[in-house]
Amino acid sequence: MKKPKERSIGIIERYQKFLPVTKKTLECIISLNEGNTPLILSEALSKHIGLNVRIYYKFEGLNPTGSFKDRGMTFAVTKAIEEGRKAVMCASTGNTSASAAAYAARAGLKCFVLVPEGNVAKGKLSQAFRHGAQVVMVKGNFDEALELVKEITAKYPIQLVNSLNPYRIEGQKTASFEICDALGDAPDYHVIPVGNAGNITAYWKGYKEYFKAQKSSQLPKMLGFQAAGAAPIVHGHPIKAPETVATAIRIGNPASWKQAEQARDESNGLIDMVTDDEIIAAYRFLAEHDGVFCEPASAASVAGLIKLAQKKYFKEETTIVCTLTGHGLKDPDLALSFDDSIVSAEPKIEEIIKIMDMET
Ligand code: F0G
Repeated sequence: MKKPKERSIGIIERYQKFLPVTKKTLECIISLNEGNTPLILSEALSKHIGLNVRIYYKFEGLNPTGSFKDRGMTFAVTKAIEEGRKAVMCASTGNTSASAAAYAARAGLKCFVLVPEGNVAKGKLSQAFRHGAQVVMVKGNFDEALELVKEITAKYPIQLVNSLNPYRIEGQKTASFEICDALGDAPDYHVIPVGNAGNITAYWKGYKEYFKAQKSSQLPKMLGFQAAGAAPIVHGHPIKAPETVATAIRIGNPASWKQAEQARDESNGLIDMVTDDEIIAAYRFLAEHDGVFCEPASAASVAGLIKLAQKKYFKEETTIVCTLTGHGLKDPDLALSFDDSIVSAEPKIEEIIKIMDMET
């Protein structure tokens, strides 16, 4: 039998040629085997929109902490260790805090997180707590929390691990590499939700670097989607009180605003918005017809795809990749908030058969 690898292999080792790593970085990697997520071919959605296109879901909910943040966090935390830091800090709508807490726990670093009180999904909060982070509920929104984190990390020797940290973007760009590696080329279109705008920035950087290295023969159009109640880039000004059911992207003043516009413009793509109703419809469609359970913010990409398909935006016989950024289990309260009929019964076969409406 082959001796098993003694270390976790994640995106840093796999894509080290495309990352700013030193010998020291490679010696202190903090990894939970992130990345290598599946590219799932949709069967139901292309039929639903009535188009002859191939649609794939890059299901980032299958990363170790259930979101794409792990790709960036492995690198940000590894670099924090390399630079001798003792603590990390972030503002978060939930997923960044879950990921930071997990990687910090593994690295033996202290982790501080500021989250908007009352607007973080339960799954994400439970992760931050269980991984031992110091969680502070801020009586304000994500944008205010991020301003505080920027001030605090500028003053104290604590590493900021929001996507303003360039290593977060570097790590996250590896998702583009995986897509090109899996498809044999870049897709024609890439659809992605936009919150703080780090991820669209990272994907575009990744696609450009792979193209330059001749690992792909084309560049996709980047199609970003914000929630209608939290769509500063679409409206062209910050939103003071962002509101959406997709709490992960409830952001009114994205840190990577300019870079997101650059990705949109350089790729000849667009950044548009979808309503909460459209997000929920897409969220349910994916779960009920394609068997893929993502969180509401992730479904913003699919809602956007459906919206564009209705406008006949896509060319036939093209390939579309949709990033599903986080797992549906992150937000159990929302998942159980619909009018599903909940039935209970005595543990008797006759009763169950009757409920199942089977002939006896
Ligand atoms: N989808 C999910 C599930 C997210 O958690 C986020 C961001 C996004 C999409 C948007 O990505 O910010 O790079 O444009 N969540 C951050 C957090 C803000 O704190 O977890 P983005």
